[in-house]
Amino acid sequence: MEKRANLFVCVLLTTLVLAVLITCSKAGELKGTFDDNFSKSCPETHFKTSEDGQIWYLSLDKQAGCGFMTRQRYRYGWFSMKLKLVGGDSAGVVTAYYMCSENAAGPERDELDIEFLGNRTGQPYLLQTNIYKNGTGNREMRHVLWFDPTEDFHTYSILWNTHQIVFFVDQVPIRVFKNANYTNNFFPSEKPMYLFSSIWNADDWATRGGVEKTDWKKAPFVSSYKEFNVDACQWEDPYPACVATTADNWWDQYKAWHLSEDQKLDYAWVQRNLVIYDYCKDTQRFPKLPEECWLSPWA
Ligand SMILES: *[C@@H]1O[C@H](CO)[C@@H](O)[C@H](O)[C@H]1NC(C)=O
Ligand SMILES: *[C@@H]1O[C@H](CO)[C@@H](O)[C@H](O)[C@H]1NC(C)=O
Ligand SMILES: *[C@@H]1O[C@H](CO)[C@@H](O)[C@H](O)[C@H]1NC(C)=O
Ligand SMILES: *[C@@H]1O[C@H](CO)[C@@H](O)[C@H](O)[C@H]1NC(C)=O
Repeated sequence: MEKRANLFVCVLLTTLVLAVLITCSKAGELKGTFDDNFSKSCPETHFKTSEDGQIWYLSLDKQAGCGFMTRQRYRYGWFSMKLKLVGGDSAGVVTAYYMCSENAAGPERDELDIEFLGNRTGQPYLLQTNIYKNGTGNREMRHVLWFDPTEDFHTYSILWNTHQIVFFVDQVPIRVFKNANYTNNFFPSEKPMYLFSSIWNADDWATRGGVEKTDWKKAPFVSSYKEFNVDACQWEDPYPACVATTADNWWDQYKAWHLSEDQKLDYAWVQRNLVIYDYCKDTQRFPKLPEECWLSPWA
C-alpha cells in the first residue's frame, strides 16, 4: 500500500515536473522568437505582444514611435510578413516595412522600401515603394490597394535576387524592378540588408503632401505584425557561400528571375488599375527618364 502510494506520488511529481519543463521551454521558445531575431528601439510602453508572443503591436503617440530590426543581414532572398495597419483616422502616420544596408540613413545606403501612408477615416491608404542604391532613391511608385489594409492582416513580401526585385501584396506582384545585364547605378545588389519595420509621424509630407496633419487626440496609433518569414541568404563576413546557386536557394533560381505567366497577368492588372504614381512616367520631374525606366519588366 505504502509502496503504491509512493509510486503514485512519484508519478505525480514526474508529471508535474514534465509539465513545468514543457511549459517553460515552450514559453522560452516563443518569448525567444522576437529577441533572438530582432532588436527593437522604442520605449517598453510602445511595444507589446499578444499573450502567445505571436503578434506584435507597435504604437505611436506624440511622445514616441516604435521600430524593430533583424539582428542578421541578408543578401538575396524572400522576405515576408503579415501586417495590419492603423485603422480609423491615421492621416500623417506612416508604417514602414523596409530593408536597408545600414542601421541609420547613411549617405551610401541601399534600401528597399514599403511605406503605408495613413489617411483620414474612410479614405484609402496609399502604399509607396522606393529603391535606393548607394544613397540615391527618387524611385517612388504609389499604389492603392484592392482591400482595406486596416481590417485584417495581409502579406507583404519582397523577392530579391541578382535579376529582379519584386514587391508582392498577398502573392500579387505589384512592382517589378529589373537588373540590367551591365554594371549599373540603380540595382542594389552588393550590400547585405537588415529588415526593419517602424511606425512614425510624417505629417510634414505623408498625407496629401503634408496638408493633412496627425490628429493626436486619436493616439495611440497601433500597427500589428505577425508571421515574419525569411528564406534568404544570411550574411556572414566576408561573403556567404549561399550566394552560389544551390538547390535550396529557390529565390535565386531561373524561375525566380522572371514573373510566371500567371504573375504577369496579375501584374498587368495592377498596372492598369492600382498605380497612381510612377516615377518612370513623371517627365516633369525627369525630363530625361532614368535609364532603368527603359528596361522591360518582362525581360
Ligand atoms: C533567428 O535567430 C536564430 C538564433 O539566433 C538563428 O539561428 C536564425 O537563423 C534566425 N533566423 C533568421 C530568419 O534570421
Ligand atoms: C557611393 O556614394 C558615395 C558618396 O555619395 C560616393 O563617394 C561613392 O563613389 C559611391 N560609390 C559608388 C560605387 O558609386
Ligand atoms: C544584354 O542583353 C541584350 C539583350 O538580350 C544583348 O543584346 C546584349 O548584348 C547584352 N549585353 C551584355 C553586356 O551582356
Ligand atoms: C487619401 O485619400 C484621398 C481621397 O481619396 C486621396 O486623394 C489620397 O491620395 C489618399 N492618400 C494620401 C496618402 O493622401
